[in-house]
Amino acid sequence: MFAKLFNRKKETNLEFEKADWSFLVADMHSHLIPGIDDGAATMTDSLSMIRELKEMGFKKIITTPHIKHDHYKNTSEIILKGLNDVRQELKVNEIDIDIHAAAEYFVDDVFMDMLESNQLLTIHKNEVLIEFSFMFEPVNLMNTIFRIQTKGYRPILAHPERYVYFHQKPEVYRELKDRGCMLQLNTLSLFGYYGKREQQMAEELLEERQYDYCGTDMHHAKHCDIIKYSSGHKAFKQLKLYPFRNVYLTK
Ligand SMILES: [Fe+2]
Repeated sequence: MFAKLFNRKKETNLEFEKADWSFLVADMHSHLIPGIDDGAATMTDSLSMIRELKEMGFKKIITTPHIKHDHYKNTSEIILKGLNDVRQELKVNEIDIDIHAAAEYFVDDVFMDMLESNQLLTIHKNEVLIEFSFMFEPVNLMNTIFRIQTKGYRPILAHPERYVYFHQKPEVYRELKDRGCMLQLNTLSLFGYYGKREQQMAEELLEERQYDYCGTDMHHAKHCDIIKYSSGHKAFKQLKLYPFRNVYLTK
């Protein structure tokens, strides 16, 4: 729906306002290192999205390439080398922003091995961003959360509203929170980008104050445009008032 509205505005050539995201201070979920996952394909894409995030008011970016054994066999070394390349290009292009990298870890056997060797990239202090399959409910969910914690990390579950198999049992979200797992909202979910069900669950979790972090999960220019022109959306005002932990990421 939002995309339709966006296209309609574009077609009619109306001037429309760019959203000011400076209240969030830092974005902690995105795919901006070129060529290593399904995010930015080229350095040009990467620089363009980073420039846009800066213009939206973000002071800091912690970008989080996928590490998923089946699709993106990234390592800490690959990600940090990519970060270094991006930083050099930002300097050459005089785009001044504080940018770091962690990862979005898909919970699979390879992740559990990495966890055992304490080699995870963190968002902040000991906080690790994890994701599950969108299709299949994870087995031993609470054991996995406990295992992450016993290794000294604090899990942040990416976009919990997108796991539709949890929608019929929202008590899972509460149990995750009770067990110390933090939850991260995808802004795009709230704007209806992934569908009505995901949007409704995002609204409910926001209403219940279950979210800890907020992230753009920006992959490409389309995501960027939706986030950039979101200020007219009713949910944008709610986000501005919500006490997300993002503000502590610069401290
Ligand atoms: Fe992501």
